[in-house]
Amino acid sequence: MMPDAPPPTDHWQARHYRDRHAFVYESSRDLVSGWLVPQPGECILDLGCGTGELTAHIAGSGAVVTGVDASPDMIAGARARSSGVTFEVGDAHLLTFREEFDAVFSNAALHWMRPLPPVFANLHAALRPGGRLVLEMGGVGNVLGVREAVEGALADLGLPALAHPWVFPSPGELATTLEAAGFRVERLHLFGRLSVLSGADGFRAWLEGFAGGWLSPLNDDERAAVLAHAEELARPRLWNGQDWVADYVRLRALAVRP
Ligand code: BEZ
Repeated sequence: MMPDAPPPTDHWQARHYRDRHAFVYESSRDLVSGWLVPQPGECILDLGCGTGELTAHIAGSGAVVTGVDASPDMIAGARARSSGVTFEVGDAHLLTFREEFDAVFSNAALHWMRPLPPVFANLHAALRPGGRLVLEMGGVGNVLGVREAVEGALADLGLPALAHPWVFPSPGELATTLEAAGFRVERLHLFGRLSVLSGADGFRAWLEGFAGGWLSPLNDDERAAVLAHAEELARPRLWNGQDWVADYVRLRALAVRP
């Protein structure tokens, strides 16, 4: 049960996400098989489920899965592609699930959910005692090359500095935040994962897909200028002569509600 609380502006476009950023869920399938290990009949919440590809993958194990995402467009895309899975629009800060799930799963979503402490408190409350939280999110240093290119473009063009909207914790910060919410951390892993952004316009497509909120204070002309200049600033660092390669850093955790 959850009150509907869509964000004021939905920057997400399910089709763009699926067409251009499929690596986000394709590269995390082993988070399901190696960390979540869903069992038939388990009740599992997929928080920040996006267009539902991994939700459907989890449901393939025989688990009963509920996918929740703040974006109405992503949830519409998820419902259109998967039957037999429940999808709901919802804000992670307003979840009211109480001891309903054996596991909570979240891939590439929590870094959007600032501040994290109330989200982890809600996930702790949503789990049955003994239930587990399995997550992957951006970790400290994530997409630093991308961020520095955008920040450099803003400065070079005389535009105001804009704080990016994400949280990328260190392993220590994540462990402390999980423990403060009542979890016992059993596994924690920080690692780099260079990720090819397909197409000659891959860098720009990434920003168009994910930086809409970050750059929303700019007008259309300013945003176009920032994208073009950031691409040039990023080229020596992130273009390998054939592809754009983003410097992803992943943070994975398995934590249990005692
Ligand atoms: C990530 O998955 O690390 C990510 C995606 C979009 C924006 C920022 C980070």
